[in-house]
Amino acid sequence: MHRWMKAAVPVLAVALAFSACSTGEDDAAPAATTPPPDTSPAVTTTAASSATTVLPSETTAPPPTTAPPESTSTTAPEADTTDAAGDAGADTADADADASPPPGAGAGDSFYPWLGNSGYDVIHYDLVLEVDPDANTIDGITTVYAVSTGELETIYLDLSGLKVATVTVDGAAAEFLRERAELIVQPATPVPAGVGFTVEIAYSGVPERIDDPGVPFTRIGWFNQHGVIFTANEPSGSMSWFPSNNHPTDKATFTIVITVPEHLTAASTGVLVEESAADGRRTFTWQMNDPMATYLAAVYIGEFERHTQATRDGLIIRDYIPSSLTDEQRQATLEALSVTPGAIDFFEELLGPYPFDAYGTLVLPFSIGFAMENQTLSLHGDRTLIPLIIAHELAHQWFGNAVSPGDWSEIWLNEGFAHYLAFLYLADYGGHDIAALMANELQAARGANAVPPGSVTVEQLFDFPSVYQRSTLTLHALHRHVGDDTFLEILREHYQRSAGGSATTPDFMAIVAQHGGPDAVALLASWLYSPEIPSTLDGPPASSGK
Ligand code: ARG
Ligand code: ZN
Repeated sequence: MHRWMKAAVPVLAVALAFSACSTGEDDAAPAATTPPPDTSPAVTTTAASSATTVLPSETTAPPPTTAPPESTSTTAPEADTTDAAGDAGADTADADADASPPPGAGAGDSFYPWLGNSGYDVIHYDLVLEVDPDANTIDGITTVYAVSTGELETIYLDLSGLKVATVTVDGAAAEFLRERAELIVQPATPVPAGVGFTVEIAYSGVPERIDDPGVPFTRIGWFNQHGVIFTANEPSGSMSWFPSNNHPTDKATFTIVITVPEHLTAASTGVLVEESAADGRRTFTWQMNDPMATYLAAVYIGEFERHTQATRDGLIIRDYIPSSLTDEQRQATLEALSVTPGAIDFFEELLGPYPFDAYGTLVLPFSIGFAMENQTLSLHGDRTLIPLIIAHELAHQWFGNAVSPGDWSEIWLNEGFAHYLAFLYLADYGGHDIAALMANELQAARGANAVPPGSVTVEQLFDFPSVYQRSTLTLHALHRHVGDDTFLEILREHYQRSAGGSATTPDFMAIVAQHGGPDAVALLASWLYSPEIPSTLDGPPASSGK
């Protein structure tokens, strides 16, 4: 029995100035220790007993989590100052969106027709990256281990910018050309249907982040800011630093080998299986043993110290925090991160075992306007380390990472689930009534005229009122309608059916239909698709609900 299943606890809302939520751009102030002036977005903090929890404030509130402060605007709030000059050559995720890709050069995504490819399934990626952080260059070799699903005269991969030196297919030199963000490979002889094959790509250059129409608040991919390299790819940005089948419907295991100057640490997604030093350089090998979508692969390079914690069941949590912190900052950071083991225990009880070999958080010594659930090692700036956002990125490990979106237009399956589960955790952790927390979200979503999360446009991919708040309310309405037991059955079944792969809204609907019947489906449909925000949550729960 969790506290969110019990009666209301009075909630005392206390306004607290919070975070600049800077846009993650290169002019972000490093390691700021005081809140910025009141032009910054405010997040309402709710204190109950001794626990501090954070809620979004009302209509003018910024996202408390990952969406940008300007999430309702489509204009870029701040310009890049460091590498804007490099923009000219950058690819756009949907440049010339009207043109449809040739067969093979897309995965059929409704927002991003050119992302991903078809004709093969990737099983494993080997990424070998030599990085010069001062020059911001990478020297890379990517080996793609794949299985053909049809005969391949042409193999399409997604890669934006960078210079490709050579490509081989099964060890034989292959012709290749570049067009848009496609690396088009012509094997010497076609790859027959139904065989395993490898493509090896040697490439180098300065990775240029991508202008993605779904992320108007920053360019995405490989960031190099204030002496730290980190990646935040969602949805299209991984093709700015390695060639791949860049769509979450084709997940694969990864080995990521990163070589950096000796004094630096390179962290990544997975488990650290080897570390060695030679010739003034240090090499870190990271192994991801579970399928991972390309957008969740991460590289982090800088001066970090590693701290470990463990869950009740012995799962290792390794956090990377900046070496530059003062004693006081280090203590505060570790204290903030100390909620992680309990949050994992909570989600394991709710959903089943944590999906991967390890977890942790990498904390940057400056703020960015979002956090990101990179698989097994979430990314945070120095202003998002609050229980709601820590729990949100953690919940994505189940929903988003283990179960990935089958189409980017169904992003609510990621953000609605992560946000609602984070609120359930917060209710449990802070002793709050989930209904009171949701009343606040409802007011905010209404105030912002949240559009239906099931029919957002690509520009609304991370629209906070819709994709986060209204999606959260969607799940809460379903929860209230079917009751605790059925709601948990639905969540668990959705997770178990698709963990390791991807899922769509119809997949989820089918489970809701099976466990909740037609009324539950109708309720879900109204929350996902009706222009108006339904009134279902306005009164007391219907008699069938809890
Ligand atoms: N998935 C992130 C979250 O936890 C949002 C990331 C948006 N930012 C980006 N650079 N794609 O909500
Ligand atoms: Zn999220």
